[in-house]
Amino acid sequence: MAIERTFSIIKPDATRRNLTGKINAKFEAAGLRIVAQRRIQMTETQAKKFYEVHAARPFYNDLVKFMTSGPVVVQVLEGENAVAKNREIMGATNPANADAGTIRKEFAESIEANSVHGSDSAENAAIEIGYFFAGADIVG
Ligand code: CMP
Repeated sequence: MAIERTFSIIKPDATRRNLTGKINAKFEAAGLRIVAQRRIQMTETQAKKFYEVHAARPFYNDLVKFMTSGPVVVQVLEGENAVAKNREIMGATNPANADAGTIRKEFAESIEANSVHGSDSAENAAIEIGYFFAGADIVG
């Protein structure tokens, strides 16, 4: 299996509760390396663009409001099978359906305030990484 990169966001519900380190520890324990990381206040324009694919969904406006409600940590994670591995570590979108030991089972507050985002494919990972990081920002 090739070494892959995926894009991750630690969301405002998690930064508010000071969980950045605990979440990063889960990535590292599972063998993913944090090869880029920045704490930012996402703008409305950035959040709208990032979640553009969900623009027609009923939860879109609230999601944009939530993602701009406090700091987030944007990250690039690297490792074998990183996209799928990160999705395993995160657990299901709705914490009620997430497996024991996953980030969302342990930390998420709701389907919206679900602590982390992770890319759903290698193709989207490359696009999402490009929204927030230049090549020189990523040190593998
Ligand atoms: P994320 O992986 O960041 O991708 C889209 C986000 O929309 C999702 O996590 C949730 O935070 C949020 N969301 C809010 N409501 C829903 C819903 N009903 N179904 C799916 N995602 C939702």
